Amino acid sequence: MTDTKTNAMWGGRFAAGPDAIMEAINASIGFDQRLAKQDIDGSRAHAAMLAATGIVSDSDVEAIRKGLLTVLSEIEGGAFQFSTALEDIHMNVEARLKEIIGEPAGRLHTARSRNDQVATDFRLWVRDQCDAAIAGIEALMRALLAQAEAGADWVMPGFTHLQTAQPVTWGHHMMAYVEMLARDRGRFIDARARMNESPLGAAALAGTSFPIDRHMTASALGFDRPMANSLDAVSDRDFALEFLAAASICAMHLSRFAEELVIWSSAQFRFVRLSDRFTTGSSIMPQKKNPDAAELIRAKIGRIFGANVALMMVMKGLPLAYSKDMQEDKEQVFDAADNLMLALAAMDGMVRDMTANREALERAAGSGFSTATDLADWLVRILGLPFREAHHVTGSLVAMAEGAGVDLPDLTLAQMQSVHAGITDDVFAVLGVHNSVASRISYGGTAPAQVRAQIARWKEMLT
Ligand code: ARG
Repeated sequence: MTDTKTNAMWGGRFAAGPDAIMEAINASIGFDQRLAKQDIDGSRAHAAMLAATGIVSDSDVEAIRKGLLTVLSEIEGGAFQFSTALEDIHMNVEARLKEIIGEPAGRLHTARSRNDQVATDFRLWVRDQCDAAIAGIEALMRALLAQAEAGADWVMPGFTHLQTAQPVTWGHHMMAYVEMLARDRGRFIDARARMNESPLGAAALAGTSFPIDRHMTASALGFDRPMANSLDAVSDRDFALEFLAAASICAMHLSRFAEELVIWSSAQFRFVRLSDRFTTGSSIMPQKKNPDAAELIRAKIGRIFGANVALMMVMKGLPLAYSKDMQEDKEQVFDAADNLMLALAAMDGMVRDMTANREALERAAGSGFSTATDLADWLVRILGLPFREAHHVTGSLVAMAEGAGVDLPDLTLAQMQSVHAGITDDVFAVLGVHNSVASRISYGGTAPAQVRAQIARWKEMLT
């Protein structure tokens, strides 16, 4: 006796339907319905190939094609009734197709398995996310370029250990993130190129005895070629892991910048003003303008890298080929992708809207003895001191200034000469922050001339 609740797709071998808990742990339709478009694209490509190779008749495939379009429009229009009993998107689509077109629907699954089907759908989905990430990164790079261009020669303190180190330019600081994001973009481009091979036609794991044309389905779906090993095709999720790894590194970069914006927008720094559009107020403290968007971007790395770790753990012990563990890939990647895109868009908006406080930056640039290295270099260049001795002399001058509660340029020539008799009036020129940054003309250095050259290079590349 066959229980009426056995699965319509494979119920033949079963006498009873699943326990409710089994259905709950097994079903993926709650989340994999996001793959509906990719699933139907994959089925259409597969069906067209079945007709072209004579495996299924043209008339059946035409009915399948039309039926699939109807299913897609039902899903996109919100009219589709997803069923947990039908487990996943693949069986939901096929069951509905059967309701619409009848018997020919049963021929669609010839020479195919859900194993190659899900691998194909998910690759298509992740590939789209690579494109979205690349576009989001490029938008943010443009926003940073605009900031860099506006303040290519504005001076600000450069930090190491978050202690004042040497003056740098605002443009230089913005362009540092452009470089980081460019590498992030490169990682998504590389991952996309590597994942762009089609698993479709690998079937359950071993390939098929039907005379399928995997090159045809691969090219219909925009893949460069079919994957060369059917076991590999259905059983690896390294493409998703590469996406998550690229996303993690990108989110880490966004998080660092977000942290700087949190610091810079504080009353103590006042380096930037964030717009009302990307901040929130406090219900009790009327003066507050909180950088919530930056804080949330800073936090996103947690869940994105978490997804990377989670999927790595899911995959690490699986024997070839497919195991149901792999169904756990989707929610992690969906969540990571959604949050990366959100973080990129929010950072883009914040950077576009943000106003740098040129005066505050310049004031801070000169404090904290930021030109001490320039003074030491001057002692080497002009007085011929060995650098170690110049470092020592400068250290004594810094201590003297600190004791007097002044900055280096405020010391008198006489005070300086009391530490080293050879010092002349000329030294004051190198103690200014503008001279300091202008002198750093080495390739990749902070001099406005260097920064402008980098801005021009990137503007050319991004248009
Ligand atoms: N929902 C499944 C997944 O996401 C589809 C593949 C099922 N394959 C199987 N042999 N049960 O992994």
